[in-house]
Amino acid sequence: MQLKNKFNFFLMPIILDCCKNTKKIGKSSFYTTLTILGNKCYSFHLSQIHTFAEKLKTSKDMDTSRHYFQEWPTDLLIDYALKIHHRGIRHNGQRLLKLISFLKDENEVMGEIESLFTASFNDLLNHLQKEEQVLFPYLYDLLEAHRNNQPMAPMHCGTIAHPVQMMMMEHEGEIARHQRICDLTNNYSAPADASEDYQLLLNALKEFSADLHEHIHIENDLIFPRCLAIEQKIVG
Ligand SMILES: [Fe+2]
Ligand SMILES: [Fe+2]
Repeated sequence: MQLKNKFNFFLMPIILDCCKNTKKIGKSSFYTTLTILGNKCYSFHLSQIHTFAEKLKTSKDMDTSRHYFQEWPTDLLIDYALKIHHRGIRHNGQRLLKLISFLKDENEVMGEIESLFTASFNDLLNHLQKEEQVLFPYLYDLLEAHRNNQPMAPMHCGTIAHPVQMMMMEHEGEIARHQRICDLTNNYSAPADASEDYQLLLNALKEFSADLHEHIHIENDLIFPRCLAIEQKIVG
């Protein structure tokens, strides 16, 4: 059964504080809301900024200039990672799981997509928790000590290099899972005879992957190397 028989789809534009840069490119962010017959309502972030802005593709060739992240202070990058990406992963992942489940009989690749996305989401929830509860609080303290020209005690495990390495390994695993989803769906392209709902799902999966790539870029290429360099300087 096609999802459109069960849902009404409509777009509700919401301009987010975090998307002030969208003015530069003339687009705002959107939430797509799915209204299920029977009053249940699910919404998931489709951040059109990622679609319309500047060619987010894969981590290898992604355009990192959208927000000039490299010019941001490191604590602001962590704020952004937490408040935009971590929240977005939880919010959108939950809703994507529901959408995948509704469309699981759509075609022969949906079973593998469901298991890949479910495993990714569950592992990401653990990953985010480790960053939020263990690594990032220490990094905030480290950055503050550096700003104040103060020394800093080592992390309980001796160096941030260990958790950073673990986080980067987990990032790699998630990139691989989402690359598999990309391959399974022919780069998120629905066949000509597919339902509109299936294309909507693929768009949402593509957006989720683009957000994840951006998130991993910020952590792997900016936050972690900067903090490792600061640790070398001030941790005795
Ligand atoms: Fe993170
Ligand atoms: Fe991470």
